[in-house]
Formats: sequence, structure tokens, C-alpha cells
Amino acid sequence: MARANAVITGWGFYAPSRVMTNADLEKIVETSDQWITERTGIKERRIAAPDESTSTMATKAAERALAKAKLKPSDVELVIVGTASPDFVFPPVASLVQAALGATRAGAFDVGAACTSFVSSLAVASGMILGGAVRNALVIGAETLSRIVDWKDRGTCVLFGDGAGAVVLEASSASVGVQSTVLHGDGTKCDLLWVPGGGTKNPTGAEKLEARMHYIRMNGNEVYRSAVKAMAEAAEEAIAKANLTADDITLFVPHQANLRIIEGVAKRMRFPMERVFVNVQRYGNTSAASVPIALCEAVEAGRLKRGDKVLVAAFGAGFTWGASVLEWFGEHEGPRQKSPLDIASRAIEDLVDRVRPA
Ligand code: UT7
Repeated sequence: MARANAVITGWGFYAPSRVMTNADLEKIVETSDQWITERTGIKERRIAAPDESTSTMATKAAERALAKAKLKPSDVELVIVGTASPDFVFPPVASLVQAALGATRAGAFDVGAACTSFVSSLAVASGMILGGAVRNALVIGAETLSRIVDWKDRGTCVLFGDGAGAVVLEASSASVGVQSTVLHGDGTKCDLLWVPGGGTKNPTGAEKLEARMHYIRMNGNEVYRSAVKAMAEAAEEAIAKANLTADDITLFVPHQANLRIIEGVAKRMRFPMERVFVNVQRYGNTSAASVPIALCEAVEAGRLKRGDKVLVAAFGAGFTWGASVLEWFGEHEGPRQKSPLDIASRAIEDLVDRVRPA
């Protein structure tokens, strides 16, 4: 099959059932529903249950994406998880997801670019598909930020939430698919949004824990200003790189950090808010999970159909930022074409299964 493009053929998300409202937060820190709503647009966020973690939520989102794509776990060739809140320093979350799914033929690794991790993962996966290294990839953004947020810091704890979103990206001869990708960074700003402790620079220890260094720290104003400028510029660059204009974009799905940031980006781009998807009011900032969760909800709401052009953009710690334009493919119809190598290797596996003693 000619590998003309990388298309999204499956999508799914998982949000933990526990809802934490602004009223709930009023009981934890000195804040108010009015302040949070006016400054961020956020009304509630989801919080993972004690037995949930980034990998369990990522697995649930991935299962839903695979079901939509009508693919079996054993068909998956690559699992990428974008995250800033992994279950462990290592192994990667992607390995835990691979095992939980039973994706026995898949390679697995994480991408760490904070809130930009999903957009970066999509860039890596589409590059590998277009280069012919794999025919499909599960691309997941998943976070359990409630475990790394400082519940004593009202400047950050009201902003974040937990969840996971996943897409299946496949090689296709269809003319639709990933049209452009841009990624940028400015590492000189790394201490404006970071978790200073718990890594190799400031290893976990009583002193570091006492100083609350293992929690998110942020200079909100600086991040805010940079996010608006960077996301708008990356979005415009991705549109131009796809040889399109803003008028060609059916739907803009930006990283959901703050309603004011989203409105600021749209204003800077002179892009109408009616064509911007917003769900930050219900999930808060879920970092790497925000774009895929929003993408899933946009599709479910009937806001994307085959051939529509969707723009995604994100900004996060690092600073890292990026954007991508995709021409929407949607659900796969009919059987997939299999390569001769795939047919042969499946036949050998079946034979081995049959001759193997019980
Ligand atoms: O995904 C990328 C990661 N993060 C972001 O994109 C977040 C970017 N930043 C932001 O969204 C905004 O900067 C915030 C929502 C975090 C803050 O909004 P702001 O309009 O920049 O407020 P501010 O930081 O300038 O704070 C204004 C006031 C301060 O009080 P004083 O010093 O003026 O008396 C804060 O102490 O609001 C106070 N404040 C709060 N008050 C009630 C800060 N947090 C809260 C709170 N409740 N939760």
C-alpha cells in the first residue's frame, strides 16, 4: 500500500469519575468560584481515584481508541505516551500500557514535553509512519496531575485535572491526514513552570520534601503571556505550512489551560471563537491529555467530518510548544489491506500456535 499519509482512524478518552468543583476547592485553599471562573473559565476538574494512575487511565483511553479503529491490541506496532506525570521514573508509561493492552508486537516509549507532549507525540508518530518504520501507532496523552500539584498553593492547584486521551494513527493511501507539524522550544524559561525536586538534580529527600520541591511551581503571569503568543504563532505557522489560510480551518482544538489564554490566542489570530473547541470548564488543564480529550469530544459532538481541517496547538513547560494541521479521516470502513510480510508473519504465528504442545 502506498504510504501517502498518516490518518487518525480511532479515538477515545477516559476521565476519572470523581468531579472536584470550584466549591470543593473553596474548602481546601483560600479561593472562590468567582475568582477561578473569571480568571480561568474552569468550573470543575476530574481527580483520579486512589487505585488509578497515568497508565491505567491511558490504557482505558487506548482501549476505546482501538475499538473505534477496529484494531486488535496485537495489531498495534507502536505505543507512545505523552506525559509529565508518569507512574514511575522508569519503566515508561507506554510499557505499562502495552502490557495492559496485550499489544505484544508494539514498541513503546514516552514523550516528555509537558503540556505539549501529545502534539509532540503525534509529530513523532506521523514521522515514523511517513518514514515507513511502522504502519500504525497508538498516540496517547495522559496525566495524573493531582498527584504532583501542591494542594496548599492556590495559584496552581485550582488549574489542573486528571485524564487521558488517545488516537490511533495509521498509514493510509488516503489524501487526508496530517498536513503539517511545527514544534518549538525555549529552554531558557524552564524555571517558570517546573517541578524542581524528585529528579536527579534535586533527588527526593526529607529536606526537599519539606521545601515542597516535588510539586508544580509556576509563574502564572509569565506563562500566560508566553502561551498566548507562542500558540498563536505556531498555529499560524502550521496553517501556512499546510498551504492553507485560517478560513480553511474547520475547527481549532487548542490546549485547554485557561479560557482567557484560548480567547487570547484566537484574538491574536483573528480566528472566530465559534470555530474553537473549548471544554476547559469541565476538565481544567489536563496537560498532555487536554488536546486528545478535546478532540474526542469534538468528534462526538459532530463537529468534525471526513475532509474537515482541524488545527491543534499546545504550549507547556520547557517552554515547549507546537501545532499541527490534520485533515480529518474518521472511522475506517471495510477491511484493511495487509502487506505480504504481515500475512506471512501471521501465518507463521498461527502455525507455531497449532504445533505448540498444549
Ligand atoms: O499549560 C500551560 C500551563 N499553565 C498555564 O497556562 C497557566 C498560565 N497562567 C494563568 O492561567 C494565569 O496566570 C493564572 C490563572 C494562573 C493567574 O491569573 P492572573 O490573572 O495572572 O492572576 P495573578 O497571578 O496576577 O494573581 C492575581 C491575584 C493575586 O493576588 P494579589 O497579589 O493581587 O493580591 C493572587 O495572589 O490573585 C491571587 N490569586 C488567587 N486568588 C484567589 C492567585 N490564585 C488565586 C486563587 N484564588 N486560586
